[in-house]
Amino acid sequence: MGCKQNKKESQSEMETAKTESEQNPIEETIFGEMPDGTKVKKFTLKNEAGMEVDVITYGGIITRWTAPDKQGNYEDIVLGFDRLEQYLDGSPYFGALIGRYGNRIAKGKFSLDGETYTLATNDGNNHLHGGEKGFDKVIWNAIPKNTGAGATLELTYTSEDGEEGYPGKLDVKVTYTLTNENELDIQYEAVTDKPTVVNLTQHSYFNLSGQLSKPVLDHEIYLNADTYLPVDGGLIPTGEFREVAGTPFDFKEPKSIGEEIEADNEQLDLGGGYDHCWVLNEGEEDFGLAASAYHPNTGRLLEVYTNEPGIQFYSGNFLDGTLPAKDGGAYGKRSGFCLETQHYPDSPNQANFPSVRLNPGETYSTRTMFRLSTKQ
Ligand code: BGC
Repeated sequence: MGCKQNKKESQSEMETAKTESEQNPIEETIFGEMPDGTKVKKFTLKNEAGMEVDVITYGGIITRWTAPDKQGNYEDIVLGFDRLEQYLDGSPYFGALIGRYGNRIAKGKFSLDGETYTLATNDGNNHLHGGEKGFDKVIWNAIPKNTGAGATLELTYTSEDGEEGYPGKLDVKVTYTLTNENELDIQYEAVTDKPTVVNLTQHSYFNLSGQLSKPVLDHEIYLNADTYLPVDGGLIPTGEFREVAGTPFDFKEPKSIGEEIEADNEQLDLGGGYDHCWVLNEGEEDFGLAASAYHPNTGRLLEVYTNEPGIQFYSGNFLDGTLPAKDGGAYGKRSGFCLETQHYPDSPNQANFPSVRLNPGETYSTRTMFRLSTKQ
């Protein structure tokens, strides 16, 4: 299986160093080299069940993540590339950490305390995923740790005052922990020295079939949301909170991605499919189940827990078969889906949305956990 093969590969790499403890070994190898010679490291987090998650220091990207199917076969369940150059050549944020701002800010402008800030417009007229060189394209400092909770990788990055147009020097820490219960727990933290805006997320594209270049239309999605945020032609929320009931956006009962994706619906037309933020229902717990995805053939079930108020469900509409897949095929339209936990897009410009402001002296702190299991 994929997992064994990869072990062989990484052992044969020249620059293998090991930071291992008996329980949850974390393997460290070199994934590639940046044009300026900086080495990009790869850490393989493992658990006792046999799950493996590869994370590289470029973009904090999850390049590989293995999970068992109902027969216990481990396969890779995330889209990505084998080589660093492919990420550098242009990746649609495969597996990456996103910052300073997940999703779009209209016209790349926002005001804070009377001052207007101008950001890159790298998606038509709008700003997307932190700009030209967001957190998905920087080198993170990585410290592997073995905590009681599992194999942990602590990633840190300092974004200088004014970077990509954002105010304040932002110190960011993202901690990935792989537990023995097949959970990847992600903790995001940030502090600033000036008032600023922050909205961090993780951009993994999942394909639970293990056949990474196959469409994901057969996956059944559940979203714990009564409303979603309709968008305009530039995929900026209009400000309305719209009921999902009676529309293709209703995932309160699990439904396959394909079931209504081609329905005659203006919002589906604007997104080219699903590419919207769902407003998560507030449950009794503050870290409740936000979403799940189930792949009937393999039995793989992915559950997403978060304390964020929203989740961007993106059905991989812009994938077009031009990028080579890890399995030898190509990443075609809708061959992966994303469940990006976050604050709502364009919040800095929308007074009715929960605030994304961070002040000096405060700590931005959010948590998202992806849990994998199987169902017969
Ligand atoms: C956005 C999409 C975008 C994709 C890749 C998603 O988070 O919602 O509109 O195409 O990221 O950039």
